[in-house]
Amino acid sequence: MALLKIEHVAKRYGRGRQRKGVLEDINLSIGKGDLVGLVGESGSGKSTLARLIMRLETMDEGEISFSRSGNFYDSCQIVFQNATAALNPTWTVRASLLEPLRLMKGDREGYIKEMLSLVSLSDVHLDRLPSELSGGERQRVNLLRSILVKPELLICDEIVSSLDRLIQKEIVELLKRLNEEMGMAILFISHDLKVVNYLCDRVYVMKDGRIVEDSVKQDGTFVFSHPYAQRLFE
Ligand SMILES: Nc1ncnc2c1ncn2[C@@H]1O[C@H](COP(=O)(O)OP(=O)(O)O)[C@@H](O)[C@H]1O
Ligand SMILES: [Mg+2]
Repeated sequence: MALLKIEHVAKRYGRGRQRKGVLEDINLSIGKGDLVGLVGESGSGKSTLARLIMRLETMDEGEISFSRSGNFYDSCQIVFQNATAALNPTWTVRASLLEPLRLMKGDREGYIKEMLSLVSLSDVHLDRLPSELSGGERQRVNLLRSILVKPELLICDEIVSSLDRLIQKEIVELLKRLNEEMGMAILFISHDLKVVNYLCDRVYVMKDGRIVEDSVKQDGTFVFSHPYAQRLFE
């Protein structure tokens, strides 16, 4: 059974004659533990779809079902591109990490210390403010914040796009490990096809609010029949 199933979803913005379709007949499915890519040029609707999955917005048509075991917000988490904007600048790393665990019983600080090594950070980072971290460290704190509750699905919306290659690689390896060790399903949204090619087992290609093709990796590569997807991945 699919963990996430999106069927015939449509989304429009604006009123009256200004009203404009941003997503049209979106169908997509993610199984437990899947590593799925979503690619497409800027403005094709990727982030809108992510917001619909996260219930940050409502859709106009269609259905999204999520077969989670716990409560929604613990089971589905999102990480955005801009880690600086996502973190409260006046909170220490400790405060930012404790916040999603406010309902947890037991030794929250101990749990955080345990999890820090997962993202190659340590105790010394806990008392720092976001401004006292490098870009890569900020994104790793941001990522850790989202995975502390052990979600079944993690949506990554262009999370490595503004980082340099070396840090990108670190984050991508981390996602791979999270997927392997925790069985976390990941929807990796990106316009960087190299990374998607490396990380994902299946990819959906979006253009102008529609999914034009999806492909499952075979023998290490994706094969496409749609000329737009072929051109993208060339
Ligand atoms: N709140 C909004 N109101 C009106 N138009 C929007 C809104 N959010 C996004 N859009 C439009 O929807 C389209 C898709 O945007 P987006 O989902 O951010 O694309 P992507 O993430 O693929 O770059 C764009 O044309 C954008 O201008
Ligand atoms: Mg976007």
